[in-house]
Amino acid sequence: MSSTEQRVAIVTGAARGIGAATAVRLAAEGRAVAVLDLDETACKDTVEAITAAGGRALAVGADVADEAQVQAAVERVAAELGAPTVLVNNAGVLRDNLLFKMSTADWDTVLGVHLRGAFLMSRTVQKHMVDAAFGRIVNLSSSSALGNRGQANYSAAKAGLQGFTKTLAIELGKFGVTANAVAPGFIATDMTAATAARVGMGFEDFQAAAASQIPVQRVGRPDDVANAIAFFTGDDAGFVSGQVLYVAGGPLD
Ligand SMILES: NC(=O)c1ccc[n+]([C@@H]2O[C@H](COP(=O)([O-])OP(=O)(O)OC[C@H]3O[C@@H](n4cnc5c(N)ncnc54)[C@H](O)[C@@H]3O)[C@@H](O)[C@H]2O)c1
Repeated sequence: MSSTEQRVAIVTGAARGIGAATAVRLAAEGRAVAVLDLDETACKDTVEAITAAGGRALAVGADVADEAQVQAAVERVAAELGAPTVLVNNAGVLRDNLLFKMSTADWDTVLGVHLRGAFLMSRTVQKHMVDAAFGRIVNLSSSSALGNRGQANYSAAKAGLQGFTKTLAIELGKFGVTANAVAPGFIATDMTAATAARVGMGFEDFQAAAASQIPVQRVGRPDDVANAIAFFTGDDAGFVSGQVLYVAGGPLD
């Protein structure tokens, strides 16, 4: 890469929450950023935040679980921004329920977005990374990978992403590509707000209850996760691969 070329990043699920904070942060690091989410128009705020700060961004609508949409989205990014060599697989959904009440559709939806989505995006983007002899993949795991009541689907997907990450690190290392996972604990976003609503608690009370159980005594913010992702996607993180970093305000086991 010449010193004037700009690396291109794709952040999935970047219309809001952790994905939006990550897109803004990677743009601040000098990346051109494809802000990908289900609905292209929902990406507008993130794109505007990036361009207002002088960065380059493109809104892309795609369902990461749909093979044809993933193919078209990555082709569009390559044509309009440049070949993507940084990929953050952040798109996610919850369909929480106790096992005996969990529908097959809710199992399939969660495994589809998190695992199949990360697989389809990574398989499609790696061609550009291999061609460039450089790549950075970060997958969003979760503290729920260690097990969490009501999340058989989600914890299986998030644990699966850790194995997926380590395998990508092994397969792609010789092409200059690293793969790492960031596993957040409680982060205040629409996702955790929806969980609070589902269990019948106000979001403020829900956050306070969570914070009291966290060693640093606060819940996480999207920027806490974006900071970790910025490290893993940096040009100087090339000897760090196959790792899982818990960003949870304390140790997890
Ligand atoms: N918030 C937390 O406490 C927390 C903790 C651990 C892990 N995570 C993970 O971090 C990631 C982001 O979480 P968040 O809290 O910002 O969630 P969020 O619900 O605020 O945002 C998720 C985004 O993903 C998008 N999305 C969903 N399905 C998609 C699909 N099929 N294709 C494209 N985009 C899709 C949504 O439209 C949304 O914009 C998720 O993978 C989540 O599982 C979050």
